[in-house]
Amino acid sequence: MSGKNPAATSKTWSNRWTFMLAAAGSAIGLGNIWKFPYIAGEYGGGAFVFVYLICILVMGVPLLMAETLIGRHTRLSPLNSMKKLSSDLGASKLWHNIAWMGMLCGFLILSFYSVIAGWSLSYAWELITGVFNGMNAEQVGSEFAALTASATRQVGFHTLFMVLTLAITARGIHKGLEKGLQIMMPALFVLLLVMLGYSILETGQFARGVEFMFSVDFSKITGEAISAALGQAFFTLSLGMCALMAYGAYMPSTNSIGRTAINVAVLDTLMAIVSGLIVFPIVFANGMEPTAGPGLLFVSLTSAFANMPMGELFGFIFFVLVGIAALSSAISLLEPAVSWMSERTNLTRPVATTLLCIAVWFVGLGTVFSFTGDFKLSIFDKNFFEFIDYLTNSILMPLGGVLIAVFAGWKMKRSTLMNQLALSVGMFNLWRAMIRVVVPVCVGVVLFTTVF
Ligand code: PFF
Repeated sequence: MSGKNPAATSKTWSNRWTFMLAAAGSAIGLGNIWKFPYIAGEYGGGAFVFVYLICILVMGVPLLMAETLIGRHTRLSPLNSMKKLSSDLGASKLWHNIAWMGMLCGFLILSFYSVIAGWSLSYAWELITGVFNGMNAEQVGSEFAALTASATRQVGFHTLFMVLTLAITARGIHKGLEKGLQIMMPALFVLLLVMLGYSILETGQFARGVEFMFSVDFSKITGEAISAALGQAFFTLSLGMCALMAYGAYMPSTNSIGRTAINVAVLDTLMAIVSGLIVFPIVFANGMEPTAGPGLLFVSLTSAFANMPMGELFGFIFFVLVGIAALSSAISLLEPAVSWMSERTNLTRPVATTLLCIAVWFVGLGTVFSFTGDFKLSIFDKNFFEFIDYLTNSILMPLGGVLIAVFAGWKMKRSTLMNQLALSVGMFNLWRAMIRVVVPVCVGVVLFTTVF
């Protein structure tokens, strides 16, 4: 199973599991562990989770397949893929904008993603140095407030995270990514299971957590909740911004796109659900509110680590692994722009990556100062971080998703699609109906109501 793929060249991943690992590495990250619990908490739990799961199944999986197949068909960066395909198919140049939007979106997401990943690294450090030992939830909450009030600490760890992203991305797909991911993703999963065991056995609130996440109160399914659930489904699967198109370009032609997409979606969803099942019981056991917002994961889990045997060690490992999961996602956020820049200009991959990382770092300061309160910019009643999050999650990613679905469904040749997907005729027709009609209509309606 793990032997080298004979067809592998320097442009494809070295064995058939690696694409899956890379795609899962892109999908699994802060979106699952940090964002899913706090958004689910803000939108009332079960109702949100219900819509989210439907979005993953009905829109997420077909789109994941569409993005991957475009990348694998052309074996180019997203922008050059879109250029080549639109010229081969005689389609308008406007389709190139899918890739431009994807690059912009990845760039903007990474700018805040890195700050949050920095929090995780900061927590790892504080846990191992014993800062949190014996603290109660309220004290842990004040520590969190102190972190978000400190520009120096946040900028320091944001810088560290960007340097790590740069170091790995600059080395290219083989050397940089494959080895690390093979160890770290399973390690993260095991640690999540350990924490799940803690939530089940030690909090006394596991049943309440389960009920919060899975009992659906249909009156809570508002337009805003649907838009948030759809945005979260796109975010968590890394959809609508060409990240998986960029990775698809390196996928061996013998891999099954459908099977891979389903595996990635299942793994990713499992991680999010497990994170929720860890966080909510701890939240309830400590008398915290599920609506606490971006600090939810940090305060709840750290309160548990602060009071469990060897909590500083477990906590340290946990937050380091979260940082690593974030790193494998960060690399994919950057990949569309890096691959385009190194194809298009004379810049080498390391130079292109460095320039991009500096720019991302700079924009990330806007998020840091949104949390410290120093940056008073308010756009549509949102601070800079909230605005970038809204713009990417609720607008750019869904818009990218609709356009990719329409392009793959209506513009690309049936023979190309069939060739890439290698599905039975029945399954192929089902996929095509989803990508032609269901995805554009559903995502389009949500997008339209969000914007207007
Ligand atoms: N899917 C990642 C997460 O859940 O943390 C975030 C992400 C990575 C979004 C790559 C988009 C992307 F292209």
